[in-house]
Amino acid sequence: MELNIDQLEGVGPVTVKKLKQFGVTSLYDICVRGSKEVAEITGTAKAKADVWVFNAQKILEDEGLIRKTDMTTLELLEYQKNIDTLSVKCEAVDDLMSGGVKPECTYEVYGEFGSGKTQFCLSLAVEAISQEKNVVWVDCEDTFRPTRVIEILKEREYVKDDEEAMKYLEKIDYFFTPNTEQLMGTINALSDVILRKKPRLVVIDGSIGQFREEYLGRGTLADRQNQIARLMTHLKNIAFYFKCTVIYTNQVMSDPSIMFGDPTKPIGGNVVGHAATYRIYFKKSGRKHIARMVDSPEHPVADAQFALDAQGISDVKE
Ligand code: GTP
Ligand code: MG
Repeated sequence: MELNIDQLEGVGPVTVKKLKQFGVTSLYDICVRGSKEVAEITGTAKAKADVWVFNAQKILEDEGLIRKTDMTTLELLEYQKNIDTLSVKCEAVDDLMSGGVKPECTYEVYGEFGSGKTQFCLSLAVEAISQEKNVVWVDCEDTFRPTRVIEILKEREYVKDDEEAMKYLEKIDYFFTPNTEQLMGTINALSDVILRKKPRLVVIDGSIGQFREEYLGRGTLADRQNQIARLMTHLKNIAFYFKCTVIYTNQVMSDPSIMFGDPTKPIGGNVVGHAATYRIYFKKSGRKHIARMVDSPEHPVADAQFALDAQGISDVKE
């Protein structure tokens, strides 16, 4: 299938060259970046870029590469029934998510340090690779440990020894992004690896915290929110166009304006919250951990208990 952007009407060699400089080389890139960014890169009117995105999407749709946007409700019902969920193999948390994480969706997992966000993502990654599926891991905090993946693989009895674990470990494409420039650059270049590997799961661990650290002071707030909004648009589009699950973890802060109840809230503001299909809050409670489905198009607010142990996240043993 021809994915070149020059098949779009009005995209000539000059535009192709400009787009290529910013890593936009395929119809997927046009869609993932969206018309606002494509217009900025090329200096084209937004209305024209809108048409490019629309037509690129139409081609992908006609080729059966992405979900049809004009399904009837009955078709949609059938489609959603047959969707392939990836379970984390902790019954309580899987129940909370109706079986696991779904493709074409974004999940925000937020909570204080040590609440289990990274361990949750690692456990899901292990489930994916043990089923011979690929994973992309973008690490903003330098907390990804291949040894931990090997341990979880062994503890969950997917492999016998380290040697066997190596085969599975290769299924994770790892990117370290020590600052926001690296993070944005990596996300922009991701479609290349995604097209080759067709990952089931894309993890961005520690995404928003970096912006908070780097953009200090009130004056930079608008700038920061613009960058975060752009990242969120890309993540949402990656999930949809590449039919994978995108999970991003987020830190929390204490909101002094909340007088009653839990003052903990995720950072990044509304742009972050609205980008997620599902938002899950992780909380420590003594030795146990609690996952709360905070926002979902189909779940009520509910809690699940889990433990952190050698197997990653697992059910609490009474
Ligand atoms: P931040 O990234 O700091 O915001 O925290 P997080 O929410 O990502 O926490 P993470 O998932 O890294 O969980 C850390 C906790 O997991 C530790 O405090 C340990 O209790 C537990 N943990 C991590 N590794 C292991 C392990 O190998 N064995 C066991 N039993 N527990 C572990
Ligand atoms: Mg972490």
